[in-house]
Amino acid sequence: MRIAIAGLGYVGLSLACLLSAHHEVEAVDIDAKRVSKINAGASPIADPQIESYLSQRPKNLRATLDATSAYAHADFVVVATPTNYDDVTHSFDTSSIEEVLRLVSNSGGSPTVIIKSTVPVGYTASISKRFDGLRVLFSPEFLREGHALDDNLHPSRIIVGITGSEDKQVAHKFAQLLDEGSEDSNVPALIMGSTEAEAIKLFANTYLALRVSFFNELDTYAESKSLNTRQIIEGVCLDPRIGSQYNNPSFGYGGYCLPKDSKQLLSNYADVPQNLIRAIVDSNETRKEFIAERVLSRNPKSVGVYRLVMKAGSDNFRQSAMLDVIKLISSRGIEIVIFEPTLSGAEALGHPLVDLAELKERSDVILANRWNNDLSDVADKVYTRDLWQRD
Ligand SMILES: NC(=O)c1ccc[n+]([C@@H]2O[C@H](COP(=O)([O-])OP(=O)(O)OC[C@H]3O[C@@H](n4cnc5c(N)ncnc54)[C@H](O)[C@@H]3O)[C@@H](O)[C@H]2O)c1
Repeated sequence: MRIAIAGLGYVGLSLACLLSAHHEVEAVDIDAKRVSKINAGASPIADPQIESYLSQRPKNLRATLDATSAYAHADFVVVATPTNYDDVTHSFDTSSIEEVLRLVSNSGGSPTVIIKSTVPVGYTASISKRFDGLRVLFSPEFLREGHALDDNLHPSRIIVGITGSEDKQVAHKFAQLLDEGSEDSNVPALIMGSTEAEAIKLFANTYLALRVSFFNELDTYAESKSLNTRQIIEGVCLDPRIGSQYNNPSFGYGGYCLPKDSKQLLSNYADVPQNLIRAIVDSNETRKEFIAERVLSRNPKSVGVYRLVMKAGSDNFRQSAMLDVIKLISSRGIEIVIFEPTLSGAEALGHPLVDLAELKERSDVILANRWNNDLSDVADKVYTRDLWQRD
């Protein structure tokens, strides 16, 4: 089987590694540096299993800038390009997917296109009508950054969405490819309508955002009333219906997906009654404002930021809650200094980038979304809500 993958970020690169274990994969990106890095056996993203796999120079995986040739010869084209939320249109910007579909249409080949990017509910059905000659399916992706390949080697479920019953067979074929790459047996595989499959992705991420928001609001209450958050959460979560996972307070949910996917779902509710989905989106803003106010109540002259990334092991801070907390604090004229070893240069976001020693020296308060033992000697300056050093 020949497979082309469009977009070599967390999703595309993870799938390129997974699928190239059994099939020939041509992996396309528009970023020349990314392409040459992958062909040199190095990973452009931090992910231990992807790094290890690429370092062996897998013979079935080749990265390329030549999209047309890759799409023309493929049986499947898997699309894993970005879908950022656009605050003006109140919807995802799906133009990168449409760019791929246009190239596939003009390539002269007849591959089945599988959209792995997260899209608005109803997108695949409507885009299939626009690109009439193409067969387009949607398969939601559930991986976590930093565990991208591992999550695909051990998938919680495989879902493929179709727009017509004639696509059932090819959907099963694609589900089999994902299953064949996984290291687990009996992975649940569901074939369904593409619109339901799209809804699953947005509802799943919005549920995760809800859970983070719930424990953050619990923590906001406990901190405001000088109560012990840890004791309350432990007692609440011992109920097996609630469970003790994914309950560690933070400055807010962040990362590339939860903020944008919950906003997209809210937008899909435009003509449907709801209260909860709006509350999940709003709750995150309230939480970040609360965190900023707690820091400001200590009357700092200078606030240090220990990492922009959301958690240990991450190499990017797209939509990190810390970014908004920084904006809120610096808008009050407080000096901000940032320690972020994944960045180089003198400044980040208009604030000085400093090393750890200078961070400790210059800051009256140090913000840490996640605790690190590097901060032990300045623990009295640190403001964190990280109770269990995880998630
Ligand atoms: N990151 C996650 O944890 C995650 C999880 C599930 C789903 N998703 C979804 O998957 C999609 C991709 O996310 P990501 O985090 O992998 O993105 P990313 O930003 O890490 O990578 C996207 C890649 O696509 C490339 N690209 C952009 N336009 C292109 C084009 N026209 N042709 C070829 N390549 C192009 C970019 O250069 C980049 O390398 C998004 O829709 C996202 O919501 C992401």
